Amino acid sequence: MTEQTPVTQTDAAPATLTKMHLPDAQIVTSVRHYTDRLFSFRVTRPKTLRFRSGEFVMIGLMGDNGKPLLRAYSIASPSWDEELEFYSIKVQDGPLTSKLQHIQPGDEIILRPKPVGTLVHDALLPGKRIYFFATGTGFAPFASLLRDPDTYERYDEVIITHTCRDVAELTYGRDLVEGLAEDPLIGELVAGKLRYYPTTTRETSPKMGRITTLIENGEIFAALGVPPLNPSTDRAMVCGSLAFNLDIKALLEKAGLREGANSEPKEFVIEKAFVG
Ligand code: A2P
Repeated sequence: MTEQTPVTQTDAAPATLTKMHLPDAQIVTSVRHYTDRLFSFRVTRPKTLRFRSGEFVMIGLMGDNGKPLLRAYSIASPSWDEELEFYSIKVQDGPLTSKLQHIQPGDEIILRPKPVGTLVHDALLPGKRIYFFATGTGFAPFASLLRDPDTYERYDEVIITHTCRDVAELTYGRDLVEGLAEDPLIGELVAGKLRYYPTTTRETSPKMGRITTLIENGEIFAALGVPPLNPSTDRAMVCGSLAFNLDIKALLEKAGLREGANSEPKEFVIEKAFVG
């Protein structure tokens, strides 16, 4: 973490976050707050949990009615990590995140150990270049994939784009990307292969604009020195809001890429980021 990173301390945990002692409970090991809308946290990993980078699990807390309140969260940590990391929005009146944002180390969360999802390498045909297109907390599955050696073994070029409203919302992704070069496991693999293309839409930054606009007007390709999207070389994974996913999907299909799935690998895959 750099000194200028705007990380704040966790708020006091409300009294409702008591120990649950459920079979699927995991212990929170650390929490970081980036803005009043975003935070990340790490929890213990069930010993038997195996997952593919890019997959999600259901996590949550016990609701006031005594029933588990669960939502789909992409696992942001790589599959070799002994803990699990998640990156979350805070919605002040959201049923889950209004409470989840108050977790502190030592608290328990519920985690159903059944990973699933389409943002996995197996759902794409082999290619030369992979694009990871993220907005907001849609960066989470790519935080896992970017730390997976397999990503760099499969592709010559890895391009991660992240569009957020303001600069502070880029912090989680920027810190992660900057840390990859020094990573003892994948630092060497990343060198010369990974390109990071962050943009903001509501605050001035070196690159402004929605990624969809920057694809349509060709600015992203000119900036990175790569040819326009091409189904014979390019693959893509997309994770963001529903509206974003639909807009990117239309652009990818216009360029001739087809949507794939675990059972039928093609040129791109899409998943909606958790909201609320
Ligand atoms: P904008 O500020 O123009 O709405 P959010 O925080 O609302 O999830 O948005 C995250 C980022 O995704 C914002 O920068 C937002 O831009 C951008 N975004 C939202 N919807 C779309 C879309 N349909 N196409 C491209 N970018 C989008």
